[in-house]
Amino acid sequence: MSDEMKYLPKSLVVGLDNIDSEHEVLFSLFDTLSKAIENNDYLFDLGEIIEELVAYVKFHFKSEEKLMISSGYPNIMQHRKAHKIMTAHVHGYMFRFKSKSESQRNIVVDINDFIKFWFIDHIANDDMNLAKYYNNISDKIS
Ligand SMILES: [Fe+2]
Ligand SMILES: [Fe+2]
Repeated sequence: MSDEMKYLPKSLVVGLDNIDSEHEVLFSLFDTLSKAIENNDYLFDLGEIIEELVAYVKFHFKSEEKLMISSGYPNIMQHRKAHKIMTAHVHGYMFRFKSKSESQRNIVVDINDFIKFWFIDHIANDDMNLAKYYNNISDKIS
């Protein structure tokens, strides 16, 4: 499974196919953003990418939350809270982008920091714990 991942770092593969594939989509969007910074290329469609990111982040969080509900995951409150905080962050970037009051570079740099400091940490800890729990109960059922 992890061999098919082009953008998602191996260390962040949690071992649940759907979740890993969704993280891969998110990382491909992150990659587009970091390339924009590296090349100093402020894409005409940066707004579109941020919009896509916001929509996909929401979709992804919902999909994890469905899994938590269906499996009776005990840490759902804490995990949901983390999702809420991150959703507020991505909405903030969108708002800043739309308000056109600062440079696109600033916003993209902040999004990249957010990915490094929040998102990666969340996958490595919260999502990893969810996957462990889910795989553990699935083993017991099958
Ligand atoms: Fe999560
Ligand atoms: Fe996740």
